[in-house]
Amino acid sequence: MTTAKLEFADKTHEYKVRSGTIGPDVIDISSLYATTGAFTYDPGFTSTASCESGITFIDGDNGILLHRGYPIDQLAEHGDFLEVCYLLLYGELPTKAQKDDFDYRITRHTMVHEQMSKFFSGFRRDAHPMAVMCGVVGALSAFYHDSTDISDPHQRMIASMRLIAKMPTIAAMAYKYHVGQPFVYPKNDLGYAANFLHMCFAVPCEEYKINPVLARAMERIFILHADHEQNASTSTVRLAGSSGANPFACIAAGIASLWGPAHGGANEAALNMLSDIGTVEHIPEFIARAKDKNDPFRLMGFGHRVYKNYDPRAKIMQKTAHEVLGELGIKDDPMLDVAMELEKIALTDEYFIEKKLYPNVDFYSGITLKALGFPTSMFTVLFAVARTVGWVAQWKEMIEDPQQKIGRPRQLYTGATERDYVPIAKR
Ligand code: SDX
Repeated sequence: MTTAKLEFADKTHEYKVRSGTIGPDVIDISSLYATTGAFTYDPGFTSTASCESGITFIDGDNGILLHRGYPIDQLAEHGDFLEVCYLLLYGELPTKAQKDDFDYRITRHTMVHEQMSKFFSGFRRDAHPMAVMCGVVGALSAFYHDSTDISDPHQRMIASMRLIAKMPTIAAMAYKYHVGQPFVYPKNDLGYAANFLHMCFAVPCEEYKINPVLARAMERIFILHADHEQNASTSTVRLAGSSGANPFACIAAGIASLWGPAHGGANEAALNMLSDIGTVEHIPEFIARAKDKNDPFRLMGFGHRVYKNYDPRAKIMQKTAHEVLGELGIKDDPMLDVAMELEKIALTDEYFIEKKLYPNVDFYSGITLKALGFPTSMFTVLFAVARTVGWVAQWKEMIEDPQQKIGRPRQLYTGATERDYVPIAKR
């Protein structure tokens, strides 16, 4: 066991250094305040490991993403989404029998309580679907009191299955409500992604035919968004769960955090940006704005806190974009032309090279989702559907960690020192 020494206030303090299986070591500073009377200071947690986890590993410098040790490109190529869900939840790839049982159990939780459909009528039709998701998913805890006792492993697993199974149904209902069409119930003979496409795009007037290429692309998009270490929304779910809040409320908190344009909202923002750029000729103007310190504009879909190399998911997403556009016979999508040219220019621009800004998972997803028929406002909803398994797996890992305690960070206080109340007549 190695240690790290800190010279502070004329004293030398030593802290344990721990190594993981791969990745950076950590300096265990949990006793630092007790031994020095000082806090560490790390806004944005750029140098802070908030927990120990065995679920997902990312190496930002080498563009590596592993789920329980399996590389994302292999999972996206060979697996389906529920297989990745099983892997994230249980830690191993399922046998055929385990996979069939898991698929069966998830499929039979896809319906929501019929009363839930009444929630939607309280929203305006043009409400942002993410606002609807925050509300309706949070309300799930009002229906499933039999799976909110987080100390019961059986209830934890039931709640996990319910969340993974019901998110596509609720997301599809949010979409149908938004476009003014009737809700479509899940069908037990369809796979996860095909069922979702069916619930979104089937109408009572005719048979909806599943396009296997598009369903496969949807499965892959879900896989690419399933989990991603301790990102903002996952950290939100962990912090909410650390107080003992029920899993439905914690996932609703994760949805709220994911909505931000710096996080999951970037896929919607990236497509809106490509639309604002419009044509290849306008790219230099936007690149200049992204580099201008006085302009808050950023290239949406570019940059990442961890990936200082290409986001491995972006490569697979780009390939999926071409597959979907090809299958749909969309030859010259101006947005794809702008995206490809923007990527080419940005990757050779000194500013982006120096700041190590590469396309991330959100850069190409918008083009693909638009081609699949989703409105831009639904893009982050789809991200939330996929990320639910990651949030649930991380929440479960935290609850089952014997060291688990409520998360309660401190601060550097720079406000007023103590002073007496002044009556209003004397102010
Ligand atoms: C996701 O954490 C995860 O894992 C998230 C995610 C997941 O799967 O959960 O991967 C999903 O959220 C992907 C990221 C999607 N967000 C965007 O595409 C929005 C645009 N990107 C930026 O907002 C930014 O890159 C972040 C938020 C993603 C990362 O920001 P950081 O790590 O806090 O980096 P930073 O803001 O400190 O930027 C470093 C420098 C800054 O310049 P200086 O102050 O050093 O001069 O790079 C610049 C920034 O101005 N910069 C950009 C830029 N991103 C960073 N400049 C122009 N365009 C950009 N996109």
